[in-house]
Formats: sequence, C-alpha cells, structure tokens
Amino acid sequence: MKGWRETVALNLDSAAKMLYCMEPLRRPILQAILSSLQLPEGSRGLDAGCGIGLQTLLLAQAAGSHGHVTGLDTCASFLEIARALTGQVGLADRVSFRQGSWNQIPYEEGTFDWVWSIDAAGYAPQEPVSSVQELVRVIKPGGRLILGLVFAVPAPRVPGFGGAFKRQSGGHRALYNA
Ligand SMILES: C[S@@+](CC[C@H](N)C(=O)[O-])C[C@H]1O[C@@H](n2cnc3c(N)ncnc32)[C@H](O)[C@@H]1O
Repeated sequence: MKGWRETVALNLDSAAKMLYCMEPLRRPILQAILSSLQLPEGSRGLDAGCGIGLQTLLLAQAAGSHGHVTGLDTCASFLEIARALTGQVGLADRVSFRQGSWNQIPYEEGTFDWVWSIDAAGYAPQEPVSSVQELVRVIKPGGRLILGLVFAVPAPRVPGFGGAFKRQSGGHRALYNA
C-alpha cells in the first residue's frame, strides 16, 4: 500500500512511530496469519485496538471489496492517523474507525463475522476474562476471534527499541486502563 510511509513520517508521536517502524518486520508474520485464516470474502470484522490502522487496512484487503472492517481504539490521535492513511490508500468505503474500549465495545451482540486483535487485547493487563467475553459478545454465532501477540517477535531486532519502549510506555500505559 503506497503512501503510508510518507504520511506517517510527517507528524507522529513516539508511540505511533514505533508502530510504524515495526510494521515492515511484522508484515510477513501478519500476512502468513491472514493467508491461513482465509477470511470470508464480504465479511464484516472488528480490529480491536487498531492503533494507527495498519492491520485494519490489511484486513480490509483480505475481506475483499464487499467486506468491511471497523478499527476500534481508545486513542484519538492514533485514529486520526488511521483515517488519513485509509483515505490515502483508497479504502475509505471499506474501513471505518471508532473511538472506544474493547472493555465496552460500542456495538450490539453478534455484529461482526470475526474480531481480530493483534498486539492489543492480547495484553489484557487487568481483566483478561471479561475483555475476551466482551470481544466474543460482538461476534456472530460461529464467527471467529483472532487474538495474538506478534510485536514481541521482531521488536528486539530493532536498534534502540528497548530504550524507546521504556521512554514511551509510561505515557501510553494509561490507555490500557480505559
Ligand atoms: C501495541 S498497540 C497495537 C496496535 C495495532 N493492533 C498494531 O498491532 O499495530 C495497542 C493498541 O491498543 C490500544 N488500546 C489499549 N487499550 C485499549 C482498550 N481498552 N480498548 C481499545 N484499544 C485499546 C492502544 O491505544 C494501542 O493503539
């Protein structure tokens, strides 16, 4: 998807930059997960804890031109970037973003065919069981929940990652208590 790098490089806080810098390292793993999932064409999904929306866009491509993916995140500035990127790659009709918490998802029961949350709800620092129950609540019967941690695999290979993570995680940690 052309154009991400230019947009993201313009004006990001350190947390968003980290997500952006990790993207090329995580991409092959994410692509492998996506191809094994074979998300149904035309399906409707939720990306819980979507960050700056990089995976939301991959998911939208995987769900095909009749599919739709909603990115949900507590962080308004991430969602702003996600919307800008989505417009830039021409997926605005298949992707939407909403501010909210995976602990209280602003959708009715059974709204989505699948819920994806990579490097987000999987961390579930406070109430893991109720967070997962809330994710399951919005999935249609027979749908799928995809929860995973990928960040930890490539992160240590990024020069300076350890220090940068310590510096930014204090400020960003509050978001996880929403
Ligand atoms: C490590 S980032 C990962 C973002 C994205 N999934 C990715 O892998 O690029 C975790 C994201 O979860 C979001 N988040 C944290 N707590 C949340 C909550 N309770 N509900 C929704 N999003 C949340 C953060 O704002 C952040 O964007």
